Amino acid sequence: MAESIFKSPHGPEFAISIIERMQAQEILRSLRLPEFDDFSQFFRNLPATALVGIGAFAAVVAYWFASRPKAVKPPCDLLLQSEEVEGLDGARRSVIGDCPQLLTHYYDDARTMYEVFRRGFNISENGPCLGFRKPKQPYQWLSYKEVAERAEALGSGLLQQGCKASTSQFIGVFAQNRPEWIISELACYTYSMVVVPLYDTLGPGAIRYIINTADISTVICDKPDKVRVLLDHVEKRETPGLKSIILMDPFEKDLKERGKKCGVRIQSMQEVEDCGRESRHAPVPPRPEDLSIVCFTSGTTGNPKGAMLTHGNVVADFSGFLKVTESQWSPTCEDVHISYLPLAHMFERMVQSVVYCHGGRIGFFQGDIRLLSDDMKALRPTIFPVVPRLLNRMYDKIFSQADTPLKRWLLEFAAKRKKAEVRSGIIRNDSLWDKLFFNKIQASLGGCVRMIVTGAAPASPTVLGFLRAALGCQVYEGYGQTECTAGCTFTTPGDWTSGHVGAPLPCNLIKLMDVEELNYFASKSEGEICVKGPNVFKGYLKDEERTTEALDKEGWLHTGDIGKWLPNGTLKIIDRKKHIFKLAQGEYIAPEKIENIYIRSDPVAQIYVHGDSLQAFLVGIVVPDSEVMPGWAKKRGFEGTYAELCKNMELKKAIMDDMVRLGKESGLHSFEQVKAIYIHSDMFSVQNGLLTPTLKAKRPELRDYFKKQIQELYSSISI
Ligand SMILES: *[C@@H]1O[C@H](CO)[C@@H](O)[C@H](O)[C@H]1NC(C)=O
Ligand SMILES: *[C@@H]1O[C@H](CO)[C@@H](O)[C@H](O)[C@H]1NC(C)=O
Ligand SMILES: *[C@@H]1O[C@H](CO)[C@@H](O)[C@H](O)[C@H]1NC(C)=O
Repeated sequence: MAESIFKSPHGPEFAISIIERMQAQEILRSLRLPEFDDFSQFFRNLPATALVGIGAFAAVVAYWFASRPKAVKPPCDLLLQSEEVEGLDGARRSVIGDCPQLLTHYYDDARTMYEVFRRGFNISENGPCLGFRKPKQPYQWLSYKEVAERAEALGSGLLQQGCKASTSQFIGVFAQNRPEWIISELACYTYSMVVVPLYDTLGPGAIRYIINTADISTVICDKPDKVRVLLDHVEKRETPGLKSIILMDPFEKDLKERGKKCGVRIQSMQEVEDCGRESRHAPVPPRPEDLSIVCFTSGTTGNPKGAMLTHGNVVADFSGFLKVTESQWSPTCEDVHISYLPLAHMFERMVQSVVYCHGGRIGFFQGDIRLLSDDMKALRPTIFPVVPRLLNRMYDKIFSQADTPLKRWLLEFAAKRKKAEVRSGIIRNDSLWDKLFFNKIQASLGGCVRMIVTGAAPASPTVLGFLRAALGCQVYEGYGQTECTAGCTFTTPGDWTSGHVGAPLPCNLIKLMDVEELNYFASKSEGEICVKGPNVFKGYLKDEERTTEALDKEGWLHTGDIGKWLPNGTLKIIDRKKHIFKLAQGEYIAPEKIENIYIRSDPVAQIYVHGDSLQAFLVGIVVPDSEVMPGWAKKRGFEGTYAELCKNMELKKAIMDDMVRLGKESGLHSFEQVKAIYIHSDMFSVQNGLLTPTLKAKRPELRDYFKKQIQELYSSISI
């Protein structure tokens, strides 16, 4: 069970379990409260008179005034974070920034990803750029100059071998996060070529589909394993266009031979760079309107979709972020980013672009998520991008370690005091509560994190609220999708309230459109979220049909999410258009909303809620949390191993009762509650094909996978 989490080569899932572990240790240590002893010692040593003395009192007051924490000054009125644009059907825009036009770029000298890197190179004065480490060693750094030089060499090598310096030349990159990934990307940008990230968790057939759809003749790979995957396709004549593979890691001679036999040239990256050094080409920089990357994402059904993004798209999106946060947070060349979320996704690429643009540093994890905490301690990052699932696990772990009522009370009390501060706009890591509890948690992330950005899925308000307090740094939430590069709304600094996804970024407008069948109407400030602006993509590669579904004639991107405008101009995600169905008696069900409620039940790690229009009620598939559930069960008198407990019928009932209780508290109608559940002991994972690479449930796959169990659940109950 827990094993399946560890096998994924991709970041988040691994990260979750590792952060869990490190939290577990750290919180255990902090809950022993060594400093608490110091404090009581301190008070004991003070003479009683001093404690009540006027002088001491005055000193304390003076100290308080001097060291009083200061609230963040918001960049706009937090009660009015967006405004309506006249004549555009209620579309709203950000109130930050002063020009009436949508923001396309932040710096005049950084309008393409090529220029972004050059800018960082210049202002960092050739400082360290990309870092990597071997086990138990300090980070080693490549300077901006080295990276730029290698990129030029690699790019020249590609041209030497027949690639064209043009936006119709697509280069595949099939690798885990590492410096060579960025060098390959920059090599493309230096000569106006287009990057196409390949990754193996998109499902069977995806690699073949991408190579053929994007006409890829050259792929840059990290490991011989991946080369073998590619050669398998070539040998079966499935990817006739693939002619050249460039490998980052060392490899055996027979691999080269195998390639030769099927007409694929296999070379080391070093070889290609050397070849490029011998006949160097002058850079052919791209223009902002040129294509930079084709980012394939999984659809819920069918083949992956290749979102085409230009340099201008990417620059506009991160410029929006810079504009919103500029009043609190100016990135510098001192900033350090820990790279472990997959580079094949735009979220990670966005954060990295911000770092390059300011000459900062990027440290890569060792590639093994079990070593992430170690990497973070060695790197001491200042920027930490996360996905909500990881935040949820951190939160659950911290609380599950506070296993006596007293510890729990202390933790909750501390969090409450700190949350009150956060609500008044103060973000800090040096309060008494930090010293007592939270500094240990912060230290497990390296101790220097000053900004956390979360995206990719909705974060729970409870979790976000707690972590804002506990981590003592700015925690921002963004909302968006690959089709608008990454984000289209973002937390306004100073608004540390949760339960919404912030206001539109200054680079795009947002409009809600009626969804009649679900009773959402723009006139009531509810509807499908639509986005328009320079960060909106150019369509799906060679897929007219799905492009017209996503982009309407006026250029609005239809996201499929249902949103609601709050009175202060922030957006709240309330529903999803796609996964909605009717029960037999005609009631609409949004299963993800229900799952988001049930998932907060302590013993539940994962849940899939099922129903369809032929059935009158819902059922659920539940994967219990292998670490939390046994303890939870024990408190209720159930004994046994995780596997035994998963088979225990009485316990199953207890778990379902707990879920239904939460559902009731959250206002679910009775038809929205599950009537029966099946307990499954294997986590849904990217590996077993039940989660997308961004860790969302693959609903059609789940439905097929559990077909038998679902039928049994329905036949076991008659209503
Ligand atoms: C680098 O910065 C200097 C000023 O610090 C400026 O004059 C120069 O144009 C910049 N070069 C590039 C390539 O941006
Ligand atoms: C508080 O955060 C800053 C970075 O914002 C960091 O330099 C400092 O070490 C942190 N202090 C503690 C006690 O963790
Ligand atoms: C914005 O409005 C929502 C809903 O009314 C509320 O929960 C949130 O606290 C508000 N934010 C601020 C900063 O007032």
